[in-house]
Amino acid sequence: MKRRQIIAASAAAAIVTPLAGFAVAASAKPQIGDVLTHAFGDRAGSAIVPMDVFDELLFAFPMGPDGVIRSTSLHNQVSVLRVDEAAMTDKTRRYAAGPYVAVSAACTHTGCEVSGWRPDTGELECPCHGSRFNVLDAARVVNGPATRPLAYLPIEFGDNVFRVVGKFSRRVGPAPVY
Ligand code: FES
Repeated sequence: MKRRQIIAASAAAAIVTPLAGFAVAASAKPQIGDVLTHAFGDRAGSAIVPMDVFDELLFAFPMGPDGVIRSTSLHNQVSVLRVDEAAMTDKTRRYAAGPYVAVSAACTHTGCEVSGWRPDTGELECPCHGSRFNVLDAARVVNGPATRPLAYLPIEFGDNVFRVVGKFSRRVGPAPVY
């Protein structure tokens, strides 16, 4: 390779490497220490605080310490919900930060975005085929066709942000088809 070609190749590598790193970080699974941020809307990318979470479902993506938001996959999207803490089962409480939980938005049936929320019953509902999941009780299936619960992302609250403190509680989304 001639000197000019080497310089050009080096320059290209210098550009591609950071971009490639960014793409990897953006598609990586949530990591311990990530902060939950608004997924959509005017405040997309800003940290979620408790006063943002009322009776409505709020979609979030985790943001790494480098500021990269892991937003390239539905499998990283969670619903942040405020529920009746006293009504939670122990299984749910283990993933919660007080009354707040972060539940995978990827349906375990065929992978639609679970976007329906019934605060009166504590159930998430998938619009595609009507599966419902009881968030108060480990996101168990209340109504199919889904057969597996949704995954929780364990969180804690501190310094006015919600942080990820562990891996998803189970496989996210539908089971793979072999
Ligand atoms: S994809 Fe959610 S119920 Fe079918």
